Amino acid sequence: MAIIEASGLTKTYRSKSGPVHALAGLDLSVPQGTVKALLGPNGAGKTTVVKVLTTLITPDTGTATINGIDVVAEPQATRRSIGVSGQYAAVDENLTGFENLEMIGRLYHLGHRTARQRARELIDVFDLSEAGDRPVKGFSGGMRRRIDLAGALVMNPRVLFLDEPTTGLDPRSRLALWSIIEDLVAGGTTVLLTTQYLEEADQLADDIAVIDGGKVIAEGTSDHLKAQVGGHRVVVTLVDESDGDAATTVLRRSGVGEVEVSGDGRTRAVAVEAGPHALQQVLADLGEAGIELHDAGMRRPTLDDVFLRLTGHAATDDDDQADGSPGSGRAKQKEAAR
Ligand SMILES: Nc1ncnc2c1ncn2[C@@H]1O[C@H](COP(=O)(O)OP(=O)(O)OP(=O)(O)O)[C@@H](O)[C@H]1O
Ligand SMILES: [Mg+2]
Repeated sequence: MAIIEASGLTKTYRSKSGPVHALAGLDLSVPQGTVKALLGPNGAGKTTVVKVLTTLITPDTGTATINGIDVVAEPQATRRSIGVSGQYAAVDENLTGFENLEMIGRLYHLGHRTARQRARELIDVFDLSEAGDRPVKGFSGGMRRRIDLAGALVMNPRVLFLDEPTTGLDPRSRLALWSIIEDLVAGGTTVLLTTQYLEEADQLADDIAVIDGGKVIAEGTSDHLKAQVGGHRVVVTLVDESDGDAATTVLRRSGVGEVEVSGDGRTRAVAVEAGPHALQQVLADLGEAGIELHDAGMRRPTLDDVFLRLTGHAATDDDDQADGSPGSGRAKQKEAAR
């Protein structure tokens, strides 16, 4: 049996503008010692899943167990085996980094000395020795994330929940945090993390569950997901939008599947099988057709590509989906993708 199991989870929030189906029958299974990423756009239900599994809220229906323990029936016992780092760092602003960690140890009934020792160890691991003696209110965003993650590790949990651990971090801090998470996993910790970044899921996760509208809509390794949307893509940006139809014809010839239109209508992309050769072919054909380019290149699939393919709407679609139903935003994106 997997160490995290969830089946048919639903959760509906009542809001002024009507019910929001945050979870709509979500299933999940995470084998011990592995990393699972929940990948999804804003409002997909990622934080809601984490809250259910960490006993902060109860689901309307469905079941979930951690380490065989039912999270709804036995929240206290569940909490003993988990650590959680929420989407927004939960630290006491007026305490120093060290004091925050010490306080968590004391809250978990560690003795004075043990709590201090554990705090010192974690300050070391997270490279916070310089900041450890300063109040958290003067911390940068990256330092806050680190102290928050350190807090989740005070009790050496077997299962760790990380809700968007690196959102808002600069590239260097992100790499540092990835490396800490990798060390934890090497030490046997099971991790469920949420992210909006395919490359983060790529780097850290054994397995990725893509979620949207409160459900898992695709699942597998990153290679498996990328294969579904094609390998590389050729992307061209036109000088003149009126060349659009001609460019689409050229791209369709060298690519596989639909030509995607984005931005202000001047950028077109298509998945290709032949890699650089396809790019050469496209450039030659566009040149022959007299189509001027502002930019051209190849790129690997992004989360947006995965989403566009799986759902017909972009992951970064910032349309209000407060009603939790497929709204006009999706239809619009589909239109734009044609
Ligand atoms: N307390 C609440 N009351 C009403 N609606 C809520 C509440 N919490 C979440 N929702 C709604 O439930 C849906 C899922 O929210 P959730 O926070 O789980 O998404 P998310 O995937 O974590 O998004 P993000 O990437 O923005 O963090 C959203 O439509 C959100 O507006
Ligand atoms: Mg969230």
